[in-house]
Amino acid sequence: MEVHHNRQGWSFFFYLCMCGAICESFHYSVPEERKSGSLVANVLKDLKVDVKELSARGARLVSKSTKQYFQLDPHSGNVLLKDKIDRESLCGQKDPCVLLSEILLENPLEVHRIEVEIEDVNDNSPQFSKKEFLFEIPEQVPTNTRFPLETAQDSDKGENAVQNHTLSPNDHFRLDVQSHRDGTNYAELVLQKQLDREENAQLFLILSAVDGGNPKRTGTANIVIHVLDANDNFPQFDDSVYKVKLKENAPRGTLVNKVEATDRDFGSNAAVTYSFSQVSENVLKAFSLNKHTGELTVAGTVDYEEERNYAINIKATDGGGLSAYCKVIVEVEDSNDNAPEVTLTSITSPLPEDSPPDTVVALFSVTDQDSGDNGRTACTTETNLPFMLKASENDYYQLVTQQALDRERALEYNITLTATDWGSPRLTSTRIINVQISDVNDNAPVFEKSLYDMHLNENNIPGLLMGLVQAKDLDTAQNSKVTYSLLPGKVIDQPVSSYVSINSETGNLYAIRSVDYEQVKDFQVIVRAVDSGSPPLSSEVMVRVLIIDENDNAPFILYPLQNGTSPSNDLVPRGAEAGYLVTKVVAVDRDSGQNSWLSYELLKATEPGLFSVGVQNGEVKTLRSINKRDTFKQKLIIGVRDNGHPPQSTSATLSILLVDGFSDPYMKMVDIPKEEIMEKEDRTLTMYLVICLAVISCIFLVSLLVFVAVKVQKRSKKESSALNFPVGPNFPENCGDADAGSLSRAYNYEVCLAGGSLNSEFRFLRPFFPVFSVEPPHNKVESMISSASQEIPSHAVEGQLMNQ
Ligand SMILES: *[C@@H]1O[C@H](CO)[C@@H](O)[C@H](O)[C@H]1NC(C)=O
Ligand SMILES: *[C@@H]1O[C@H](CO)[C@@H](O)[C@H](O)[C@H]1NC(C)=O
Ligand SMILES: *[C@@H]1O[C@H](CO)[C@@H](O)[C@H](O)[C@H]1NC(C)=O
Repeated sequence: MEVHHNRQGWSFFFYLCMCGAICESFHYSVPEERKSGSLVANVLKDLKVDVKELSARGARLVSKSTKQYFQLDPHSGNVLLKDKIDRESLCGQKDPCVLLSEILLENPLEVHRIEVEIEDVNDNSPQFSKKEFLFEIPEQVPTNTRFPLETAQDSDKGENAVQNHTLSPNDHFRLDVQSHRDGTNYAELVLQKQLDREENAQLFLILSAVDGGNPKRTGTANIVIHVLDANDNFPQFDDSVYKVKLKENAPRGTLVNKVEATDRDFGSNAAVTYSFSQVSENVLKAFSLNKHTGELTVAGTVDYEEERNYAINIKATDGGGLSAYCKVIVEVEDSNDNAPEVTLTSITSPLPEDSPPDTVVALFSVTDQDSGDNGRTACTTETNLPFMLKASENDYYQLVTQQALDRERALEYNITLTATDWGSPRLTSTRIINVQISDVNDNAPVFEKSLYDMHLNENNIPGLLMGLVQAKDLDTAQNSKVTYSLLPGKVIDQPVSSYVSINSETGNLYAIRSVDYEQVKDFQVIVRAVDSGSPPLSSEVMVRVLIIDENDNAPFILYPLQNGTSPSNDLVPRGAEAGYLVTKVVAVDRDSGQNSWLSYELLKATEPGLFSVGVQNGEVKTLRSINKRDTFKQKLIIGVRDNGHPPQSTSATLSILLVDGFSDPYMKMVDIPKEEIMEKEDRTLTMYLVICLAVISCIFLVSLLVFVAVKVQKRSKKESSALNFPVGPNFPENCGDADAGSLSRAYNYEVCLAGGSLNSEFRFLRPFFPVFSVEPPHNKVESMISSASQEIPSHAVEGQLMNQ
């Protein structure tokens, strides 16, 4: 307090002048914030009064301000604090802070000024205007950038005011406090180290202010720094290369891979979009990429056989335009989606049928586009065909024949080649190859029959078609083209070609001349059929031509002779009874079969009822006994007709003389003169006949004798066993005994041989006399006559002999 006294001396003086002569001021000081009743100072000494005087004089303290801060204790002279005083609210920043009061003393009045200086006490802390300061600082701000800060305020003064600012320890900022010229301080945040939002998006710092009081007081404020994002980070893929496997033929939409790039930036700077980067057309066709999610999906067809690997570059771009790349390597896995394929390299078709076994028919390869087992193939073919497979190198196969072929059995083969792979499931493909078998001339023509019979009517017109022969050849084309020809041969000393010709193309056989059955009854021709192959093959067949008879010959009357010069007369005794055999008309027909069946009928007679003719045998018999009225000379006309269609007929004229006996006078009645012309010729014939008759009779007699002698001998040997054996020739019953007396024995024998059926026997036997068919007609007739002459009734011959 003494210190104050000197320093403020002259202001005290000034105060004294104001108060006049009495003014004397005392200076005291007291710290703020003292309790009420605290002692400020004792004024007794300064007033130079004692306590008694003081109270006696009625000392009073009067405040110059409105409020009384002090009070005076008159019993002690102490000035006491009436109330607690806050310097800051009383004076603010005014310095010094002085409160003026006056002490009044009466008797005499004295006025003493009292100055009480309120001393500062560090009762206030430094204070910031806000609890928190917010900064938004882009991360890319360069270092040493300064950000001004507010400084703290402290109501206290002097040492008790703010002395220092400090910042909580951190990596990025330091605090720089500087003074203005006027002495005021200012603080700045200085960026020491680049900010990184991705590391620290927010920084929390504490700014502290310290005053110089004792004890020191501090005030703090929070500094919040938001680091604003800058696009300073590239997107980053998890992997730079992704390797994925993908089944081929994966359906559309199959997720292949998901690529993901992260960007440490914020907001749009971190928004990544994906896109293909420099990829081939194939990739674009096969895949699609989701721009936002990075999902790579199948968009087209993925075919192992087309592309086994895809390298796909994918770009990720953030909103700020920074990009990163990655590569997706898609390895396509094979699946068995390709069937084996059969590729035909060569084929031999048509294949000659005589190809030896092991001939290569076809060469082909089997390929499968798949790989591994899916591409391994095997090939088979049907086992029931005469072909087999031979495997060669490099999936090549040969189809070879394994046995002989025959075009006539199988014209062509459809060979199924079946190729199978080893994948799962197995795939199979088939290929049918058609192999034609070409013809080789290995079949001869074959006739439909082994023997052809053809019939030809005699007297045919020349050039008549008789029939045809046909040969089939199993071969084809030229090898089956058959031509026909006749082999040389003879038909009755004439070349066969003069009888028959053949159409070489059609096999039609023609008769080229008119044929007479009576000359040729049948003949044979050999036809050869030749095909046009090389070398040609041929075969032969026999054609038998049978000539069919026609009724082209009229019956020819052998007896009686009809050439009219001297119709022979048959003599009939008047005494002959009914049924007397007068004569027999003998006729022949050169035709055969029906055409030669002859029938006889009586056409005309002098005495109609007297004679009859056997329809079959031509025997002329009397119907009744002859009476006196019947004329001596009877004439019969007998018709002979064959059985052909139309029938041919001829007639014979018979002269019969009715006689009483075979005596000259009757014989002379016969009209001879005409016969004499022919007499010489007749004579020779007759002489032959007589000789023949004599010889036959002699032979007969001799043989009869021999026969009898042998029989007699035999009977003598075995008498008991053969007693009833007949002695003479045993004539059949139908032999007419009645006429035996008037006819010679020879005649009787002849008739018995004929047995009434001479005509029919003659007829049937005749075709077996080959001499008839061979001899020319006039010779034939003569021979017939000579042979027939033996059958002529002997009495007729005798009649002739008698004529001579
Ligand atoms: C302020 O405080 C710091 C650290 O607390 C100290 O290094 C510095 O010297 C002080 N400044 C003054 C003026 O007291
Ligand atoms: C072969 O195939 C063809 C055509 O399909 C057919 O016309 C022919 O009849 C077949 N041949 C055989 C022998 O199966
Ligand atoms: C009658 O014909 C036969 C046979 O043809 C013949 O032998 C005979 O001489 C002929 N007689 C007369 C007289 O012509």
